[in-house]
Amino acid sequence: MNPNRFLNIDDLRQLAQRRLPSFAFAYLDGGAEDERALHDNTGIFRHLALQAYALRDTSQRDYSTTLLGKRSAFPLAVAPTGFNGMLWPRADILLAQAARDHGIPFTLSTMSSASLEQVAQSVPDGRRWFQLYVLKDRSIARDLAARARSAGYDTLIVTTDCAHYGKRERESRHFRAPLKLSLPALLNVAAHPGWVARVVAPSRGLPGFGNLEPYLPPGEKGRGAQFIARQLDASLNWRDIEDLRSRWNGKLVIKGIQTAEDAQTAVQCGADGIVLTNHGGRQLDCSVHPLQILRETREALGDETEILVDSGFRRGSHVIKALALGANGVLIGRPVLYGVAAGGLAGAQLALRILCEEVDRTAALLGACSYSELKKMQETLLNSGYPAKALDRAMGFPAKRAVSA
Ligand SMILES: Cc1cc2nc3c(=O)[nH]c(=O)nc-3n(C[C@H](O)[C@H](O)[C@H](O)COP(=O)(O)O)c2cc1C
Repeated sequence: MNPNRFLNIDDLRQLAQRRLPSFAFAYLDGGAEDERALHDNTGIFRHLALQAYALRDTSQRDYSTTLLGKRSAFPLAVAPTGFNGMLWPRADILLAQAARDHGIPFTLSTMSSASLEQVAQSVPDGRRWFQLYVLKDRSIARDLAARARSAGYDTLIVTTDCAHYGKRERESRHFRAPLKLSLPALLNVAAHPGWVARVVAPSRGLPGFGNLEPYLPPGEKGRGAQFIARQLDASLNWRDIEDLRSRWNGKLVIKGIQTAEDAQTAVQCGADGIVLTNHGGRQLDCSVHPLQILRETREALGDETEILVDSGFRRGSHVIKALALGANGVLIGRPVLYGVAAGGLAGAQLALRILCEEVDRTAALLGACSYSELKKMQETLLNSGYPAKALDRAMGFPAKRAVSA
């Protein structure tokens, strides 16, 4: 993949769109209902302007930091995403390799195509986190957590915002019945022979869910989607988090938090960190963006608890805005999926390279040489003048520039 041709994440998105059949691209790219949250997720960053310090020596730079107890080369980690094998063969493993090569953690989803053991065996030297969906049969979550621990995953991320399926209309329009593609969608698949040859032909179908195979009833092997639909559990609650905490001795993170109050409850239940997210606009439409609640959540939690954020981060400058408002790091979701769908390992590597270089360049232009200097740069964020009164209130803008020491 030529880095001179694909200059930013949107370039990779466009190539992914060309390479994937429309139903698969809708799965990757689409959001819930009117896609308000999806749309606002990328738009919100423009409400904040950056203000640089001049004449600071930025010849030596290092933006590494500690995320959940271990060093990470950048304040980034790959977000958990399910069904990646539909985008490119062995996509979970390729994403884990790309994360390792950039020195950042990789999160494997419960709904991954490869099993957690396959990823651990294929990329033994990368840092691995495991994302857990708690299903109706609670013994599955306990077993998955035990498997993840023995396969060397050091952090468990429990996702809380998927007890009900989001209504993803863009995706649903490609189906005439559950799991049955419409005629136009099938014709569109036929117009993507490269994808068919790569993804469908080798295993004569779409990939299954590697982690869940052992739990599927005998008649349902290879048909995990129906099983998952039956196993979503609307009764999931904080007692489940306490139970998991008592069984998991690694770092525990709760993903799906949208209020400072829930962030505090997560900590009371023993969480080491939280992920402020709206699931990339795929679940609750019109939901709040992490940037809008970062400051109040940081104030409520103090400095001990790690706050990760995701949803709509497409530029290095987006990452820096979140750090300045109190986040410890950012989970990267669709950008690496666009990359892997566009060009396998080379595409995933390019997506992370673009983001890491943008973080480095933006921080350098701001006059910050290190992660800790970036964190002190709250005063470099200014409301860019957009009519965003609510954002103003939430963020306490217009911010006063502190006098530099
Ligand atoms: C295709 C796709 C699949 C996803 N699957 C999961 C999943 O299995 N578990 C999970 O916790 N989050 C999942 N997410 C949400 C991501 O972890 C993350 O919150 C989201 O991608 C952030 O939004 P962004 O990609 O627009 O930046 C998925 C997101 C996408 C786009």
